[in-house]
Parts: sequence; C-alpha cells; structure tokens
Amino acid sequence: MTPSMTVDVHVTAEARRAALEADVRTGLSRHPKSLPPTWFYDDRGSELFDEITRLPEYYLTRAERSILDAHAADIAAASGADTLVELGSGTSEKTRLLLDAMSASGRLRTFVPFDVSEETLRRAAEDITGAYGIEVRAVVGDFHRHLSELPVDGHKMVAFLGSTIGNLAPGERRRFLDDLGATMTPEDHLLLGTDLVKDGGRLLAAYDDSAGVTAEFNRNVLSVLNHELGAHFQPEDFDHVALWDEEARWIEMRLRSRLPQIVEIEDLAMQVGFEAGEDLRTEISAKFTPEQVARELRGGGFTVDASWMDPARDFLLSLARPDP
Ligand code: AVJ
Repeated sequence: MTPSMTVDVHVTAEARRAALEADVRTGLSRHPKSLPPTWFYDDRGSELFDEITRLPEYYLTRAERSILDAHAADIAAASGADTLVELGSGTSEKTRLLLDAMSASGRLRTFVPFDVSEETLRRAAEDITGAYGIEVRAVVGDFHRHLSELPVDGHKMVAFLGSTIGNLAPGERRRFLDDLGATMTPEDHLLLGTDLVKDGGRLLAAYDDSAGVTAEFNRNVLSVLNHELGAHFQPEDFDHVALWDEEARWIEMRLRSRLPQIVEIEDLAMQVGFEAGEDLRTEISAKFTPEQVARELRGGGFTVDASWMDPARDFLLSLARPDP
C-alpha cells in the first residue's frame, strides 16, 4: 500500500453555520433552554477540553488510555481489522496506541479519521500519514448525518472513544448504532468507550474541577455564540453548574443566569430573556453499567465479543460486531 491521503468534505462551512443557527434558534426558544454540546469545540474549546483531560478530577481519559496501554494488542487481534475508522478523532494519542498494535500485527492498511472539524481532521490525517506511511482517508462529517459516507471496503474497526456516546440521549444512541451498523459488515467491529456509573461525588468533581477549567469550558460556548452569531452574552453573568441525575444516570452541565437579563443575538435578530437563576442546559454525559452497554448494543444490532475495564473499573471498552 502506497502512503496517500484524501479528505472528503461532507460538511461545508455553510452547512455548519446553518446547523448552528438552527440549534441556537430552537434551543434558546425552548423551555427549559438547551444547546447541543457540539458547539463547545471551537479552537479555544478544544484547547480547554484538552486541559480537562489532564485534570486530576477528570479520570476518564487516563482510565481509557490505561485500558488501551494494557490491551491494544488484544483488541487489534480480536478485531482482525486492517482499517481503523475513528469517529470524532480529536487527538491522535489514543489512536496511535491502536494503530501501533494493528501495525505490529502486520495488518494495518488504512486509517479513516471522521470529524466535524476540517482543521482538526487535516492535522490528524497529516500526522498519521507521515508517521505510519499508510493510506489515510479523512472524512469531514457529522455523525448524526454522514455515517453513510464512511468507506465500505476493508476489514474495519470503528473506534468511538472517550465516552462521547454519552453526549447522546438514549433515543439518539439507538439511532446512532442503527446508522453505524448499516455501514458495517458482520466481520467489522465497533470499539466503544463508555464511562461507568460510580460514586456521585467523583462524577461531579470530574465535571466541576477545583481549578475551574470545566467552568471555563462550559462558558466558552457563550463566547462561540458571541463570535459566530454576534451575540452579546457576558459569560461571567452565568454560573457553571454540574448535576448528577441519579435516575437518568447522566451528568448535566448547565449555565445558570446570575441575574434577570435579555441577551441580543444580532445575526438571528433574536432577543433571549433569562430569569435570575434560569438554566441553559449545555451537555448531558451519560454513565453506564457494563450490562447496560451490552443491552444497548444488542438493541442497536450489535453483539459484544469482548470487553475490558481499567483496574479501578472506572471505564469500559467494548468490542462488538454487527449482527448478520
Ligand atoms: C468529550 C463528551 C466525553 O462528556 O466527559 C468534559 C466532554 N464535558 N467535561 C464528557 C466534557 C465536560 C466529555 N466528552
């Protein structure tokens, strides 16, 4: 295989802008107010998330990496894959553990990073093409709409790491699995990272760290709206709130207005009123039990072949294959 790199763009800047406008218009007109977490990740937001992954309270990234450190070779062998597809390939560090293992087994041919951000993707694609000399077929897309654009050839392992699936509500998770399964053959595998239910205090601390990085990450979405849509939010007029919903088994992040205010969003010719203490929900981050992960995968047409946890049982990696 000669090294090569292609980038297929399925989300244009215009389409992304239209999606932002629609999300803001509906999310801020609704009661309670909400925004999807996608819009956290401009350059500053991605930088802040990177910082979060190194916080003492944010155990998720270290736990997942420790599983990959210990088991990447087992995962590569169990999958038998020659093609690694990575959904939401923000940073390539964990990817490299998988690519190294696949490469050591002599089977690695193709890497397919899939992300909404063309910038992030080009960087990752160039790094990997240079380092591994393999075929890289980057796909710029949104996993709510463009999974069907993933390449169909090759023997694939689709990695969806970081517990990003937890940002989806249960119905959205089911749809995601259905859509993904439709792009895979029964020989392919899904490698799914999920954060596990644990002590509420530890969960809350992970989303409300003492250095205030998560608070800044949360408020950054308001700066995104200011830059992108000519909004007039004062981020300091909102408190960062993290809640553990024991019943729904998810963490919610919210921004709570410290005062009654009306915020103008110029580009949408919109004025948004907040009462004092009113919340804007910015993220859910669902937590799972291993049984629930297996059940949801089964409901979405997958069967778990193998799974791995870190020694503290904080995080789970599941290797599943689509039912024939
Ligand atoms: C990237 C979605 C996995 O939900 O833990 C981190 C994002 N939000 N701190 C998560 C996040 C607040 C993160 N994911």
